[in-house]
Amino acid sequence: MKGPHSKCGRSRKRRRGSNPRISARSFGKSWNGVCVYECILRRAREIWLSFSALFSWLAAGIFFQFQVVSLGKIGYTIKGLLSRHGSNPQNEIKHHHGTRRGCGTEEKMKRIGMLTSGGDCQALNAAMRGVVKTLVNSRQKVEIYGFLDGYRGLIYGNYRTLAGSEFSGILTKGGTILGSSRTPFKTIQEPDENGLDKVAAMIKNYQKLKLDCLVILGGNGTHKTANLLREKGLNVVTLPKTIDNDLWGTDMTFGFQSAVNVATSAIDCIHTTAASHGRVFIVEVMGHKVGFLTLNAGMAGGADIILIPEIPYDINKVIKKIEDREKNGSRFTIIAVAEGAISKEDAKLSKKEYKKKLLNNPYPSVSYEIAAQIQEKTGREIRVTVPGHTQRGGSPCPYDRVFASRLGAEAGEMILNGEYGFMVGYKNREIVKVPLEEVAGKLKMVDPNSTIVKEAKLMGISFGD
Ligand code: F6P
Repeated sequence: MKGPHSKCGRSRKRRRGSNPRISARSFGKSWNGVCVYECILRRAREIWLSFSALFSWLAAGIFFQFQVVSLGKIGYTIKGLLSRHGSNPQNEIKHHHGTRRGCGTEEKMKRIGMLTSGGDCQALNAAMRGVVKTLVNSRQKVEIYGFLDGYRGLIYGNYRTLAGSEFSGILTKGGTILGSSRTPFKTIQEPDENGLDKVAAMIKNYQKLKLDCLVILGGNGTHKTANLLREKGLNVVTLPKTIDNDLWGTDMTFGFQSAVNVATSAIDCIHTTAASHGRVFIVEVMGHKVGFLTLNAGMAGGADIILIPEIPYDINKVIKKIEDREKNGSRFTIIAVAEGAISKEDAKLSKKEYKKKLLNNPYPSVSYEIAAQIQEKTGREIRVTVPGHTQRGGSPCPYDRVFASRLGAEAGEMILNGEYGFMVGYKNREIVKVPLEEVAGKLKMVDPNSTIVKEAKLMGISFGD
């Protein structure tokens, strides 16, 4: 059979879909030329197909390799998590002392004690979560011992081991999963009713559990005790919590912004009813010693008068402001009063005299006293609203969630680096480490000459001074 491939010996059947005549004509080649040309094309195609196959195999091989590595990693992670936190629902972790074997390497186990002390606030859980997530994420082997109800748990050895998983899902949860209590610093060095030396008991429990450090979340009093424990040789890292924002060494404490939100909502609600009835309303905001919360909620809620402990008031100036507003056509007045607001006369008393006065005071709080005085002097109808502990309750606001998480993460990093004896604070928009001895025993108060007070006054807000 003569044809385009008679010379190269290939049958026509093997050539798929090509017509040699057309090819020959279209390219103006001889039959032999066409054959050579097509053979070259075919070879090239075969070579291309071989290369494609080779590349496919190579790609498949690489992909397979990658999957094996990934699965290995996942397996390692799961293994790590299980060994780190235990897998039973009771979160009972076997206590390994000193070093622990993991994946063929000796790694030091970190044993962390944690407690929340003093009045609670929003974002305590968010902060603890930040610490634990950071430690777990670092693959550091950790055991967390949560002391229940603040220092009380450390004194009486009341604790439970906590799995990392217990810190999941608590970012938005108010309160504290560990519980809290007030253990006043002034009595911490006195024996308890059974003669127990509380400080010695705390040290003993710390040593018994072979802790590497204590993470302590608290406000002023808490920091005094934390510093005492540091002086006694314990490793301590603290986080600043309080709705009062009165901790020295930090521009902000977590809980504060959430409390400002709650107190502001209370003032907002009072505003509408006060306007309807043309009444003078007092909203009592938390803060026995400092007025940050009242100042901020008062400004945010549009209060006309703000009374805080740092700026003693003159009741006649308060009344004058109410009357001036009425003369200018305002039917109502909102007064934001801090729990610790104090009159100019009372501010002159010694601490002892003032305490004595408070003991004999017929009013449940300063707001009721102010209300009675205004009522008596002007004959106006005054109402008092006390949002009280709602200001410390509920879910933390987004600011506090982020802020507390950041502080927690920094504390976690400090623990990993073995840096102890600091409060994680916030200064000039930066997270800072503040030595505990600088924080303990100092209060941060509203400066009566600060710009915020000046600006409030510029807008006509009265501080009764
Ligand atoms: O924790 C701070 C604070 O909320 C203050 O603002 C308030 O005066 C005080 O605690 C109330 O304390 P307690 O919860 O013990 O009544």
